[in-house]
Amino acid sequence: MSSVVAVKPVVPVKPLVPVKDEWKVGALLTKADYEAWYERSVEDPDGFWREHGQRLDWIKPYTKVKNTSFAPGAVSIQWFEDGTLNLSANCLDRHLADKGDQTAIIWEGDDPQDSRRISYRELHEDVCRMANVLKDLGVARGDRVSIYMPMIPEAAVAMLACARIGAIHSVVFGGFSPDALGGRMEGSATKLLITADEGLRAGRKVPLKANADKAMEIAAKAGHAVEAMLVIRRTGAEVAMREGRDHWWHSLRETVSPDCPPEEMSAEDPLFILYTSGSTGKPKGVLHTTGGYLVWASLTHQYVFDYRPGEVFWCTADVGWVTGHSYSVYGPLANGGTTLMFEGVPNYPDAGRMWQVVDKHQVNIFYTAPTAIRALMGAGDAFVAKSSRRSIRLLGSVGEPINPEAWNWYYHVVGEERCAIVDTWWQTETGGILISPLPAVTDLKPGSATTPFFGVQPQLVDNEGTVLEGATEGNLCITDSWPGQMRTVYGDHERFEQTYFSTYPGKYFTGDGARRDADGYWWITGRVDDVINVSGHRMGTAEVESALVSHPKVSEAAVVGYPHDVKGQGIYCYVTLMEGQEPSDELKKELVAHVRNEIGPIASPDKIQFSPGLPKTRSGKIMRRILRKIAEDDFGALGDTSTLADPGVVEDLVDNRQNRK
Ligand code: PRX
Repeated sequence: MSSVVAVKPVVPVKPLVPVKDEWKVGALLTKADYEAWYERSVEDPDGFWREHGQRLDWIKPYTKVKNTSFAPGAVSIQWFEDGTLNLSANCLDRHLADKGDQTAIIWEGDDPQDSRRISYRELHEDVCRMANVLKDLGVARGDRVSIYMPMIPEAAVAMLACARIGAIHSVVFGGFSPDALGGRMEGSATKLLITADEGLRAGRKVPLKANADKAMEIAAKAGHAVEAMLVIRRTGAEVAMREGRDHWWHSLRETVSPDCPPEEMSAEDPLFILYTSGSTGKPKGVLHTTGGYLVWASLTHQYVFDYRPGEVFWCTADVGWVTGHSYSVYGPLANGGTTLMFEGVPNYPDAGRMWQVVDKHQVNIFYTAPTAIRALMGAGDAFVAKSSRRSIRLLGSVGEPINPEAWNWYYHVVGEERCAIVDTWWQTETGGILISPLPAVTDLKPGSATTPFFGVQPQLVDNEGTVLEGATEGNLCITDSWPGQMRTVYGDHERFEQTYFSTYPGKYFTGDGARRDADGYWWITGRVDDVINVSGHRMGTAEVESALVSHPKVSEAAVVGYPHDVKGQGIYCYVTLMEGQEPSDELKKELVAHVRNEIGPIASPDKIQFSPGLPKTRSGKIMRRILRKIAEDDFGALGDTSTLADPGVVEDLVDNRQNRK
């Protein structure tokens, strides 16, 4: 899709869009409910969550509710700790009596001719069978299973099958490279990998099994041998199967019982690991546990989306990201809902695809990322106008700040002013939504995530940690725990404390900046650390830098984000070459290919600037502030460069940048 968007103001952006009377019809919560619930949730968290924890089926009910501490050196987070339950039983078994024949998953394939509906009964049987297959292949409670899959129902089956037997899943996005998968399998000491022969996106095949084979070798070289692989047949391509190690799901499926009793898990037993980028080169394994996570995913799904029985919910995120975990799979299924899984991309066969799918499956709630909205906006209104979209009742946005122009287009053109937009702010670490409007409750302001969900207490602090009051801007912290919060970095609790609780001791630091306006509304301004947000995906600049310097011709690299019309932020790389290497367009291409190969296509550099030197302080620290300004073409505001070891470097960089244009 073109990267140039003609931002056509549909109608001027209004600063406030009040709740419409239609949005209140049949709504689960009124404004008065929200206010009363919120107040209770922060004043009496124990009482509030004791009550709301009961939305799940517990095997042994909890007597304890909240046991959390953000204290320096003693961060510990436990919710419902003495309760036991099984997550897959909560997502499946408990719905069978009433909803066995109701559709749990609507699957829409990459090819518009391909779709399937899977009932709760069918999903339950598949999950039990896969759980039994995993057990037969030696997977036991507490073992790690990696999942590297396309968006097909079997991805959800695999996650739920792990949860059924108490194995910990680690889903790795199917667009990641063998290196990235191998590193994550090694990091989590994965016992078994679930993958598919190939994925299919926009008609193109993605060689998942071949990538998985390479990743197995990479993990083995790093010191961890993954024992087995379970392969799902998706395209039917010929793939190499290693005797004794690799197994076809469709063959083993027939050899096992369709019943598998759910394992009784403690609320605090790990459910999944999800790797995410941080400020350092190595992604962190964010660990979520069972009880609190599911309470959070299901409660936020129900109330933020005002989800009502029978509605079709479509979250466009891939299961490789946290949004896919909480809102394509766990939240909707825990609530007995119907969730749509889409294998394809928004612009294939054309830019009208999303709206065709909405009409085809009568989607009621549509939840996507600003980058997709901007790309579709750029493709023109005609693609939208060809569809009816009358089924849509609510629109949602997630992943990055939504610019008011894109919000406006979503509201006026896609929703025809009939639907509220919930701009939901949250993170992999938070398990589910923390700040968002509620459709019948919150007057909307385009670009603002508005107000906190139950139990969430945001706070702004300055760089020294002083708490800021009133209408102001600062670093966004959360002062107390909520049930969906991550519990630790897998295998490295110290890193967990260090990353999230040491900058502002006693508080969870989100890594985001935010503004609070005079009405108390929250506006997320973006990351304040060395993480950039590319098309709603988190990318550590250090990860891209380490990929670049692993190329033999590169001596040094510094990576920053810059504003990009469609992606939100693009990846801008300053590269210093080894002695004797000549800059060239060919070399740029080689470096782009190298980074794609090391991390995956989502990390593709958008711009590479060869720079003989990088601006450094006398102690050798790269001054990224200056690099960001140059990447943004903001040459007038480079700030104080007097602390630089060699101020001349900056002039060279600016000259280079200007000559290049
Ligand atoms: O910077 C914020 C941005 O995405 C980051 C979290 O990324 P990730 O863990 O990959 O999870 C994405 C999906 C939840 C945040 O630190 N972000 C997410 N949602 C919003 C947002 N920024 C502004 N507005 C949002 N609604």
